[in-house]
Amino acid sequence: MRMFSALAVAASLACLSAASAFAATDGAGNGNPAVAMPSASAKQAFIDNLIRRMTLDEKIGQLRLISIGADMPAPKLMEEIAAGRVGGTFNSVTRADNRPLQDAAVKHSRLKIPIFFAYDIVHGHRTVFPISLGLASSWDMSVVKHAARVAAEEASADGLDATFAPMVDISRDPRWGRTSEGFGEDPYLVSQSARASVQGFQGSSPANPDSLMAFVKHFALYGAVEGGRDYNVVDMSPMRMYQDYLPPYRAGIDAGAGGVMIALNSINGTPATSNKWLLRDLLRDEWGFKGVTVSDHGAIEELMRHGVARDGREAAKLAIEAGVDMSMADVQYLKQLPDLVKSGEVPMRDIDGAVREVLGAKYDMGLFADPYRRIGAAAQDPKDVNAESRLHRDAARDAARKSIVLLENRHDTLPLAKTGKVAVIGPLADAKIDIMGSWSAAGVAGQAVTLLQGVRDALGANAQVTYARGANITDDPRVVEYLNFLDWDNPEVVQDKRTPQQMIDEAVQVARSADTLVVAVGESRGMSHEASSRTSLSLPGSQLALLQALKATGKPLVVVLMNGRPLDLNWPKANADAMLETWYTGTEGGHAIADVLFGDYNPSGKLPISFPRSIGQIPTYYNQLRIGRPFTPGKPPNYTSQYFEEDSGPLYAFGYGLSYTTFDVSKVNLSAGTLARGGKLDASVTVRNTGKREGETVVQLYLQDVAASIVRPVKELKGFRKIALKPGESRTVHFTIDEGLLKFYNAKLQYVAEPGDFNVQIGLDSQHVGQATFTLK
Ligand code: BGC
Repeated sequence: MRMFSALAVAASLACLSAASAFAATDGAGNGNPAVAMPSASAKQAFIDNLIRRMTLDEKIGQLRLISIGADMPAPKLMEEIAAGRVGGTFNSVTRADNRPLQDAAVKHSRLKIPIFFAYDIVHGHRTVFPISLGLASSWDMSVVKHAARVAAEEASADGLDATFAPMVDISRDPRWGRTSEGFGEDPYLVSQSARASVQGFQGSSPANPDSLMAFVKHFALYGAVEGGRDYNVVDMSPMRMYQDYLPPYRAGIDAGAGGVMIALNSINGTPATSNKWLLRDLLRDEWGFKGVTVSDHGAIEELMRHGVARDGREAAKLAIEAGVDMSMADVQYLKQLPDLVKSGEVPMRDIDGAVREVLGAKYDMGLFADPYRRIGAAAQDPKDVNAESRLHRDAARDAARKSIVLLENRHDTLPLAKTGKVAVIGPLADAKIDIMGSWSAAGVAGQAVTLLQGVRDALGANAQVTYARGANITDDPRVVEYLNFLDWDNPEVVQDKRTPQQMIDEAVQVARSADTLVVAVGESRGMSHEASSRTSLSLPGSQLALLQALKATGKPLVVVLMNGRPLDLNWPKANADAMLETWYTGTEGGHAIADVLFGDYNPSGKLPISFPRSIGQIPTYYNQLRIGRPFTPGKPPNYTSQYFEEDSGPLYAFGYGLSYTTFDVSKVNLSAGTLARGGKLDASVTVRNTGKREGETVVQLYLQDVAASIVRPVKELKGFRKIALKPGESRTVHFTIDEGLLKFYNAKLQYVAEPGDFNVQIGLDSQHVGQATFTLK
């Protein structure tokens, strides 16, 4: 039921005339898409004027970010908005849902300040793209950017103004379930992805009707939670923070992100949510961030559980003082701030500062010029929000096939011929929900193409396709219960009631009459999600037993992995004839994987994260700091840094990925042996396609500081270039090295390049590189 009748938007906004500096729109979201931002001083004057007219309660109201459907019943929410006690909401995803909420704000609240609508649009909105770890595997920033752009277009057309993305937490511990949400382990690759993603979401301006404001998260260091246990503590040296973990947030902010979401973890003893150093000294003063900060879900309340606040009053005081502008799923700001201000414990200056940022964000979203710029007019609402015509399948398929990494391909098993009989087997082969990955926003599982469907579509009448489920993803009822916790009525994990052996037997029978086996194994999407930390990286349940039984049939075994974190792949690495890491490929996943399986696309993805040999080897990231007794392959391991029961090094290295063709890389050529300060050096290699197919590969530049004032990494990615080559074709790839690339944070946290020798390493993965050396004068 709509609570408020429609009034003329223009009349309701009469008090907001300062916002008319924006390009005019017709109030139906049909304005000029390229919006010229008004000057900073016009914005400042507008906000100052508004703040002067606000009561304390109205100011505190602006600091509340309310979860639709969770924090309060709908009628209460309407009342709160109309009373000016809500700044924004999240989790509603249609224009029809958002319109009455905006009506309540701009037609019924005293100052008619619009609210904004946010949502977790991480890898697509209606069309689901590959998870971020998959997008990063493309090493193609135009893919990352385009995925965000499409998501912004779809979500803004659903009346949304902002997204809690990109998630740019560096993740070096695959036990952490949120590894799937980020772009991997490397500061440089994640920073590039952060920038591309923000640019995609926001377009030329977050005020554009088809743009979303990006909230970079989770600030900061969330990916470094102890033991990979979600929500745990982070205890880290300042050098590691500055050098490795902070750059991606900075990159997103420098790309213009309008918002920052604050992490749930503590950092060296102080929760991010009460961390003045983090939110004021670093974010505002050092980095110059001008946008709005929001807490994570209920994080202010959690300050009590961290044990830094005695009660809600102290929690609210700590958070506002630290610089938390908005309180997500708020309880304490509303309850405590009025009295804290009246008693003088919290200065009005702090409240005004936070309100200024919230209003500033709404101004930058273009909402004061037209609160309905994304909601549009009811007459133009889509009849069916899930209509096929609203999807961007081609873009999703393109991104998905570029995100797939070919891990093994013995005897050129792949690509497969489009003839004969293909058995598609496995618990993930026909799993519509799982292929979308977690945080799939408004994506509809029914619209996702599974691997089975993709193979059928690719083969048509040319070949026969058979299917068996082969195993449940897990056999552990406790895990099933855990994963279905969120929605008992619509369980995501639905168990086949047969015994594991019965399912394997059926699969073996199907396999025996096939020419090739394509077997999809991995994790359900909920296993790679928030609060889904694992103690093991093995294929859950009977999946390994299924692979082993299928291998025993002697048929070519193609393993298709669907998972959101590196898994223990020792057995499949040694036994599969071919293996693809597909992560979760999204709405068009099945088509994209089939494109790769049958050679309609030559895989070009590279791993954005190292795969350990076993869980005990964690962390396995490639850019480790150097040590005094390193393990050296080929030399005796005794008294070196390794584990004696296992080989050392990653099972699959950062940057690794095969192609259906082969490439040869020349030795590294440097334009000079020395680099002067302020000068430039050219590093190049010539790459040749030595195989029979056209293909793409990623040329990767790593640097190593030979001797410095503090211990430096064994190598660090500093550049990459994705190139396409025809058979026999070669190309020389150049990288420019300057002083900037050599800088690091020294023991005094000064960002410096120290004189001395540097090794330049270039190759097609982090382990196989050619090397040349130059000296910085
Ligand atoms: C997550 C955030 C997310 C928020 C809102 C939290 O639990 O940590 O990443 O943006 O919920 O959905």
